[in-house]
Amino acid sequence: MNEIVGRGKWATKAGFVLAAAGSAVGLGNLWKFPYMAGENGGAAFVFVYLLLLVLIGMTVMLAELTVGRHTQLDALGAYKKLSAKWAWVGGMGVLCAFLIMAFYTVVGGWAIKYFVASCTNAVAGIDFGAFITAPMEPLVYTLVFCVLTWIIVYYGIGGGIEKASKIMMPLLFIFIVIIAIRSCTLPGAGAGLNYYLNPDLSKIDGGVILAAMGQVFFSLSLGMGCMITYGSYLGEDSSLTQSSWMIPGLDTAIAFLAGLAIFPAVFAFGMEPGSGPGLMFATLPQVFDKMPAGEIFATIFFLLVIFAALTSAISLLEVVTAYLVDEKSVKRGGASILGIIGIFILAIPCSLSMGSLANVHIIPEIASMNIPAMGFFDAFDFITSKLMLPLGGLMLCIFVGWVWGTDKAINEITDGGLTSFPLAGIWSILVKYIAPVAIFLVFLSGFGVI
Ligand code: PHE
Repeated sequence: MNEIVGRGKWATKAGFVLAAAGSAVGLGNLWKFPYMAGENGGAAFVFVYLLLLVLIGMTVMLAELTVGRHTQLDALGAYKKLSAKWAWVGGMGVLCAFLIMAFYTVVGGWAIKYFVASCTNAVAGIDFGAFITAPMEPLVYTLVFCVLTWIIVYYGIGGGIEKASKIMMPLLFIFIVIIAIRSCTLPGAGAGLNYYLNPDLSKIDGGVILAAMGQVFFSLSLGMGCMITYGSYLGEDSSLTQSSWMIPGLDTAIAFLAGLAIFPAVFAFGMEPGSGPGLMFATLPQVFDKMPAGEIFATIFFLLVIFAALTSAISLLEVVTAYLVDEKSVKRGGASILGIIGIFILAIPCSLSMGSLANVHIIPEIASMNIPAMGFFDAFDFITSKLMLPLGGLMLCIFVGWVWGTDKAINEITDGGLTSFPLAGIWSILVKYIAPVAIFLVFLSGFGVI
């Protein structure tokens, strides 16, 4: 069937793994993970992250893919098919896709601007603060990023998303290895490695653990039905268990490499390791500027950022598109256009919240819960990664563990008992008890309740 009309399917197993890893590997790996590790205790943070990744991340990954493959439906439809009362959890996922895309496309737009500038060797001359606070220019780049995302999704699962991921993901991997090697072999790189990885247990508190858990969900694209949606295009011949460790494995490897690419270079040139977007867009261009043949590395780096952001953005738009196709019987072309228009409209206040709307706070300060006042951009980031994604993951675990039932899930995972799943018992305990309790406790400690 024509993919633009029908649902579509992954053409190959490797194509699915690359697309799902492409969803996972994104801005979260490149700009969030390295500075969070650097700021929050280095190797101690990485350790907390890995622990939560195994206990919660891999557990939820397998659960989402299983629900998706079993139902062959979008996030909302999948829940609805198994229990109508739970449809709202899928609906929250679709909403989450809009909110994440609203700020994600803005940062994707910044990366395009930097890539274009790096091609003419002009990247070090950009005044990051002036650029992002201007009203128009960042929005134009956001629009370009939205259009690129839309084109790929328009062409469907096998013809668009899978093809694009098969080209972009291997290149991304090669690029990040090149930059990491360059960075770690600079004279004076050791200070950066020390900053990035030196374990400091005293920095680990409830807030840091909540941040690490939010990062596990965000980085693995979990808790909002993205992996349900990608899983719904799988056939019976796919191995769900293999995917549920390969995708997190690739994601973590790239997050770790991103830190190795960034910090040694920053320290080698005596720069301050600023945090957040500032690190990638304000500091790194200065670092590349000081490096021999830095223009080439800057171009490679920003192209890699664009690839990472695009392969994630298409998965977010696909959540919305699949919802409209499966639930509202809209054709793929129209569904993807409607989705991207809605997203761009939400991206406008996010971009403006850097400048003209800087004083508009949609979340007020709640000091007792460690919550600062936030504008659109920060609020959407906060609401999704620290609230909606972990909540979505918690609900999914309760749903699979207690409502749909692990027996039925395991039946799907083992293709009705044809393939083996040696860890079935452990996974059941993780889904039913350990992951939900852990998510709940991290919530409580992160917001200062315990
Ligand atoms: N995982 C992506 C990243 O790390 C972001 C994302 C979140 C994508 C949720 C899809 C769903 O950048």
